[in-house]
Amino acid sequence: MGCENCRTNRTDLDDSSLLREVDKGDMFSFSLNMPEDIEKALSDCQARSFSSFSPDNILVCGMGGSAIGGDLANSLLWEEISVPIHVNRDYHLPAFVSKNSLVFLVSYSGNTEETLNAYKEAQEKEARRIVICSGGKLKEIAREDVVIEIPSGRPPRSALPFLFVPIVYALESMGVARKRSRDWKETISLLRQLRENYSPLTPSPDNKAKQLAYCLQGKLPLLYSTSPLTHSVAYRWKTQFNENAKIHAYVDYFPELHHNEIMGWEGKDEVSYAVVLLRDKGENERIRRRVEITKELLEGKADLYEVWTQGESRLARIFSLLFLGDLVSLYLAILNRVDPQEINFINYIKSKLNAVGEG
Ligand code: F6R
Repeated sequence: MGCENCRTNRTDLDDSSLLREVDKGDMFSFSLNMPEDIEKALSDCQARSFSSFSPDNILVCGMGGSAIGGDLANSLLWEEISVPIHVNRDYHLPAFVSKNSLVFLVSYSGNTEETLNAYKEAQEKEARRIVICSGGKLKEIAREDVVIEIPSGRPPRSALPFLFVPIVYALESMGVARKRSRDWKETISLLRQLRENYSPLTPSPDNKAKQLAYCLQGKLPLLYSTSPLTHSVAYRWKTQFNENAKIHAYVDYFPELHHNEIMGWEGKDEVSYAVVLLRDKGENERIRRRVEITKELLEGKADLYEVWTQGESRLARIFSLLFLGDLVSLYLAILNRVDPQEINFINYIKSKLNAVGEG
């Protein structure tokens, strides 16, 4: 079991001219730069201070590539902090938001209408606000607030470190979460090592990201995560497969999937599935047993792959697997001959809504 099982003799992805031709916006460079982006995002944060605050709850408001940082923060801090983190992907805020809430308003462009509306509601509720954006309307309307301005000019999903690091850094510096300078170092150095393996320069037989992309091509990926640490990572894999490779992908979670999703395997359909199990060494013993039972039940019904987090700290483990997924999604885009940077349908919807104006 594992990626070793999906070894193929294919080498299409070793053709650098093909990569250049399809990846017109050079998304590979953005992704491969993740360790340096984390470093830069951290040093940008270190220049600021956040006054201490003890919130009743934490909200991260954003959409798409700007929201996932909230999910990742939730996975990271799940075992650590005593207040809930809620990721709010909507125009409106839940009723529990109050003056004692800490609300992050995150929009890379600063022009996402759901997030702009959430900002207004957070302001009305006098919640403590921290804005993360690269400019746009959000920067203008949030002049009175703490605004963390991040570098502009790239697709939001490729700017993940700038959208995630400030959330964790702010929580650390407010005293809500513990400081983790060793973990950041571990993460950056692990990603540098992994980059050697996943890079386009590493030939297919030695490249885990290319291998997995060959195996998933033409299949419907079902991403099954085994612990709260990997749940957000599985969701990132799904969204990167959608936006970069232009394919559908589905996510589900242990142990919940044993109470519903698993029944789908009793039926017969014509879809060719590939199940990817996203695993972590810290997963619960009972979950391990559940994974074994799942493998048994799926035998002969779907291709099954396992990928594991690497590293020691929760932070490094999260990023090790996230990085693999980002690269696999880009290689899948190349195999599907679609420009990973293009997001025509998303832009079309935004422009249609803009033309109509506020409802
Ligand atoms: C594009 C992307 C999208 C955007 C989303 C919200 O790369 O990932 O999911 O993040 O449409 O836009 P922003 O991030 O500008 O608020």
